[in-house]
Amino acid sequence: MKLTLFTDDLREVPADLLAVGVFSDEPDRGLAFSHLNAALDGVLEQACRDERFRGEAGQSVLFNAAGGLAARRVLVYGFGERRLYDPESARRFAGTVSRTCRTAGAASAALVLTIRDVPAPAERIVDLVQALAEGSELGSYAFLPYRTKDAEPTRLKDLRVCFAAEDVQGVKGAMLRDALARGQVVASAVAGARDLVNEPPNTLTPTAFAEAAKKMAKTAGLGLRILGPRDLERQRMGLMLGVAKGSEEEPRLIHLIHEPESVGKKAPLLTLVGKGLTFDSGGLSLKDTENMLPMKSDMGGAAAVFGAMKALADLKVPCRVHGIIGAVENMPDGRAIRPSDVLRSRKGLTVEVVNTDAEGRLVLADLISYALDLKPTELIDVATLTGACMVALGRSMAGAFVDDDEMARDLEAAWLRSGERFWRMPIDGEMREELKSDVADLKNLGERFGGAISAALFLREFAGPDLARFAHLDIAGPVMANRDQGYVSKGGTGFGVRTLVEYARRRSTLSSTRE
Ligand code: BES
Ligand code: MN
Ligand code: ZN
Repeated sequence: MKLTLFTDDLREVPADLLAVGVFSDEPDRGLAFSHLNAALDGVLEQACRDERFRGEAGQSVLFNAAGGLAARRVLVYGFGERRLYDPESARRFAGTVSRTCRTAGAASAALVLTIRDVPAPAERIVDLVQALAEGSELGSYAFLPYRTKDAEPTRLKDLRVCFAAEDVQGVKGAMLRDALARGQVVASAVAGARDLVNEPPNTLTPTAFAEAAKKMAKTAGLGLRILGPRDLERQRMGLMLGVAKGSEEEPRLIHLIHEPESVGKKAPLLTLVGKGLTFDSGGLSLKDTENMLPMKSDMGGAAAVFGAMKALADLKVPCRVHGIIGAVENMPDGRAIRPSDVLRSRKGLTVEVVNTDAEGRLVLADLISYALDLKPTELIDVATLTGACMVALGRSMAGAFVDDDEMARDLEAAWLRSGERFWRMPIDGEMREELKSDVADLKNLGERFGGAISAALFLREFAGPDLARFAHLDIAGPVMANRDQGYVSKGGTGFGVRTLVEYARRRSTLSSTRE
């Protein structure tokens, strides 16, 4: 998509669709709307009234301009209350515009960015513009490789972002163009993660995942190591190998390396670890039909790490980041691990497998131990780990388990800026008792209650006690969406990419200002 900035008269914009956002608590609906309404002899306002459009968040009206403007149609979009307007509002607005263009067959659009009267430090305007680019790219996302019948619908190819020149007081055009470009790079990484989640499990096997990583690493300029079963044995990764045993598909450990030349080899290292169960049948502790169906998305954490690494490379973010993905399939078979089997982890701790469906923590435990050998300053794992987290927080929010308060603050700053929703969860030490086994050092499952917390405690056994900056992000809820909305489309969401990228970017600017 071609994204351009301009400040011309809205009435003269030649586009299939012209979109304008309005606030619910602004009776005159703002300057841009008033201009358009005047040019259309008041019919726009009339149409809004007819549709009972009040400007509530996400509400919209599509209007045929019928010659009154250079644009063919006008989309009036509601932001809700002015005080709630933020970059995420712009992201959703742009997403809705893109989506409407798809369904309305519009290939070119223009939208008015609302900045006027909003307290507008330069940083905020830059964030708004980046969000807008992300929203417009993601709103036109579709997963089409397996559609043989319907031709691809019209896609938005050309989007102009308009605002009045006085809005951008002090912000250089170049900064805004950078923000647009950055938003597009991030969106394309999110789309890449969505593609991986949406890809069926018969084609996205662990080996195919590794192939995809190879291709991506080559184009993006990332370093790459791929470990197969022999290597994993040499690494003594008994937990990850145990999970893989019931499958015909070989496991792969995918290690992506972002070490730009401008950054010294001794710079702080951020490691990202992703759960990549390309399919989770539950193993011998087999899931029922209903719970098994969504399990192609059980590699959503790995997809987020994959996408984040791609974006960091494309943006040339000056920081050291390694991404470690465990791609495995969990299947029931004659060779599969049994409930009550005892496995030996890479770290040396033994684990009694009381439920083969609690496989994610097994894989992650060995990946974390592998990552710790790289001597990282911090480690973040991303995983569709527990149904319990989804029960606790719903579909739109992920759980963030972080011991270290400073790291929690840094992460929160990143997720707030990215627009992805997280909630900080407790890591209740008292529940540690539940993980004691009668025969081994640990068992892989606690009680049903607080299941997301005991899973986090299990992981902490492998990350701690030396690494203070450890965070576990449980994205089981938001990994898939059950309907189209704003810039989110039904299916894989690519959740996590934006927060990880923002986190790494912030770490890099922080460290450079400290030096
Ligand atoms: N991959 C699932 C968790 C999950 C559930 C992700 C729903 C996304 C949506 C995980 O491997 C799992 O099976 N967890 C079980 C644990 C059970 C054995 C106690 C669960 O949460 O039901
Ligand atoms: Mn499972
Ligand atoms: Zn799983």
